[in-house]
Amino acid sequence: MKILTIESSCDETAAAVVDEDRNVLGSSLASQIDVHQLYGGVVPEIASRSHMEAILPVVSEALEEAKIGLEDLSAIAVVNEPGLAGSLLVGLSAAKALCVAANKPLIAINHLQAHVYACRVAFDEDPFPCIGLIVSGGHSSLYRCNGPIDFESLGTTIDDAAGEAFDKVAAMLGLPYPGGPSIQKAAEKGNPKAYKFPRPMLNDHDRMQFSFSGLKTAVRYQLAGTGRVDFSECHISEQERADIAASFQEAVCDCLVGKATQALRKYGMKTLCVGGGVAANRRFREKALEASEKYRFKLFIAPPKLCTDNAVMGAIAIERYKAGLFSDLDLDVSPGLVRDK
Ligand code: KG4
Ligand code: ZN
Repeated sequence: MKILTIESSCDETAAAVVDEDRNVLGSSLASQIDVHQLYGGVVPEIASRSHMEAILPVVSEALEEAKIGLEDLSAIAVVNEPGLAGSLLVGLSAAKALCVAANKPLIAINHLQAHVYACRVAFDEDPFPCIGLIVSGGHSSLYRCNGPIDFESLGTTIDDAAGEAFDKVAAMLGLPYPGGPSIQKAAEKGNPKAYKFPRPMLNDHDRMQFSFSGLKTAVRYQLAGTGRVDFSECHISEQERADIAASFQEAVCDCLVGKATQALRKYGMKTLCVGGGVAANRRFREKALEASEKYRFKLFIAPPKLCTDNAVMGAIAIERYKAGLFSDLDLDVSPGLVRDK
C-alpha cells in the first residue's frame, strides 16, 4: 500500500508518501512563515494563494523522493477539517483532481486526529487507547482516543488556543511570529517564578476545558499597568522580557500538563499522546515527562518536526484505508470555525 497524503489546513503546504507500515517514502513541506511574519500572524487570503503556488511542486517532490508515479498509489488522502476554509480548499481541490486524473480513491483526514497519530508514526508502540491532547495555533483540546480514528471530545478551550496565546503574548513582548519558538528562546534567560501569572481552570478538576485569555490579559496588565490596555509606551528591559516570557510559558505548560493529568485520572487511562505545534515546546516536554514519571502514565510526544503541521502525520489515512473508509468526490471542507464544545 502506498498513500499520498496532502496537508494545507493553515500555513504549511505539505505532502508525503507512506506505506502500510508507516514508513515515510517521500516527504516535502513548503512553509509560509516568512510571508506571514511580516503581518505578525497568518493572513488567510495570503495563505490560500501561497498554497496554490506550492501545492503541485510539493506533491511532485514527495512523489519523486518516493521514486513513484501517481499510477503506483493505492489512494490519495487529504486534510479536509478543521482549518482555514480557503487553505483547506486548495489541498482538497488538488487531491480530487489527482484522484480523477489517476483514477484513485480519495481519503479524508481530520487534522486533529492526524496530530495525535504523529505519535503512532514516531514510535514503534501502539499508543491506543489513550488520552489525546492537541495543542496548536487553533486548538487546545482533550480527546478520549479509543482507536486511531475513534475520538470522543472531552473538552476544549473556552477562548484562545494555547498556540494563539503564545503568538499574542509574543507580539505584546515585541517578539516575532510564530510566538511559540520566540517565547521559548526568550524564556531561556528568564526566571519562570518572576511573575505570578494565573493558571485558569487548573483547580477545576471536573471540567476538561482550557482558558488562556485571562492569562494573556494578565501579561498585558503586567506590561501596561492593571486595568490599562495600551502598553505601546511601556519600555521593558531584556531581563524583564525574558522573565515575563518564562513566567508565561510556565503558566501555559502547567495548565496543559495539569489538565491532561486530570483527564487521565478521570477517564482511567494510562497513556497520553500529545500533538500540535505547542508540543514542540521544550519546557512543555520537560514538564509532561516529569508528570508521567510522578503519576506513572505512558507519554508519547512526537519529535518537534512531527508536532508542527506536516503531511507525515497524514499516515492516519492508512487506518481509514484498512477500514474501507473512502470519500466521494463531492467531499467538502469543514473548517470548524465554531468551537466544538
Ligand atoms: O500545529 P501547528 O503547526 O499549526 C496549527 O495547526 O495551528 O501549531 C502552530 C502553533 C503556533 O501558535 C506556534 O506559535 C506554536 O504552535 N508553536 C510553539 C512552538 N513551536 C510552535 N509553541 C510553543 N513552543 C514552541 N516551541
Ligand atoms: Zn496543526
